[in-house]
Amino acid sequence: DSGLCAASLLGASAEIKFTIPVGRLFTYELLRETFQSDFEPLYKLYAGRLYDDPMTFKCNQQNFPDLPEWLRFTQRHPYDNGFLYGTPTSPGKSTIEIYATNKRNYETARHILMIQVVAEKTLPYQAEFFIELREIEMVLPSSVQGEIKQDLQKLWYSEALEIVNISNALDRGGRVPLPLAGHFEGVYVKVGSEQYFSPCLQMVLTPEHQRLCASETKVKVPGGCSFCSIPSNCITWCKTELVSSRPTPPPPTVGSGILEDGGDFDPLESPPSRDLLPDYIVTVIVPLIVAVVLCLLLAYIMFFRREGVYAFISNLYIFLYHHHTILGNTDELRQMSGSRGVAPPLSTLPMFNSRTGDGGPPLQSDSPSIPLIMAQHDPYSDTLPR
Ligand SMILES: *[C@@H]1O[C@H](CO)[C@@H](O)[C@H](O)[C@H]1NC(C)=O
Repeated sequence: DSGLCAASLLGASAEIKFTIPVGRLFTYELLRETFQSDFEPLYKLYAGRLYDDPMTFKCNQQNFPDLPEWLRFTQRHPYDNGFLYGTPTSPGKSTIEIYATNKRNYETARHILMIQVVAEKTLPYQAEFFIELREIEMVLPSSVQGEIKQDLQKLWYSEALEIVNISNALDRGGRVPLPLAGHFEGVYVKVGSEQYFSPCLQMVLTPEHQRLCASETKVKVPGGCSFCSIPSNCITWCKTELVSSRPTPPPPTVGSGILEDGGDFDPLESPPSRDLLPDYIVTVIVPLIVAVVLCLLLAYIMFFRREGVYAFISNLYIFLYHHHTILGNTDELRQMSGSRGVAPPLSTLPMFNSRTGDGGPPLQSDSPSIPLIMAQHDPYSDTLPR
């Protein structure tokens, strides 16, 4: 079933080739007894006989630290066989290195697995079942896979069924069970078929099923649809999920007895491409232009309007100087107002016009502020009223 093509021994490492299709479960059991022959027997007495040594395995894709994304490895215990399993999603070639370490004498053996994945049509109708009373290592042996498949074929009313995926419930967010007998991790099994879901499976799609499963925790598989021959392979009815990549075929016309063909798989069209230029302009170009304009403006102010800045600073100096002289003069006047009859202070003398040289009118006002400011010669105040 798995498509074993050839096995050859190259020196110390065996090389095994597989050709497998995309979208179907691949399982490879790492049998301890196959590796056992690569190791020294415990006693010479046992030469020619296999001895049961504990072994661990390390698997990786050649020249990579890990396995390909689709392939997983599991081994419960060094006295159990290991499994490589998974569902390839695209065609291609992988070379897998398997290193077995004998835990008795720490010898290692290397095997090579060459896996060639070839394209295959996706099965249009797929269903996933949850098997509560199982662990992944317990369902991966091909005999158990066969038993599970048989039960599901009866539930599907079809022989044309393929196992698409098997996964550990722990990998899907399941909880680690109590370490007690009767507690299991649980396993998801996905199968696919060209044939549409049976009436039994179609019940999963009904609103009553969803309502019932939402309210009750233990919902039995409806009578007439329960086909599990081995109790530990029984499915959890409420965790069944159907996926169809093809529209539901019309119900068969009564009398013909043959389902109509649903047509070829028509992949969804990719969404129309969007024009991202306006978004790009709004989010990138416009802020960039604004930033550049602001930069230029700042540069202009800093380099070309420098004289303006200097003029401002020198005006500030003149203003401060005026302010200082006003304060000084006021103080002088205050001091003198205490002792009248002394010669009038310099600052109260009549002003002269700086342009004509004429003396100004004698000071009439008590307030010294206006003439005192005007008395200063200010080269920048040509525009000010005199
Ligand atoms: C198989 O199941 C695993 C675990 O849920 C998931 O990661 C993987 O994508 C599945 N593969 C396919 C082909 O559906």
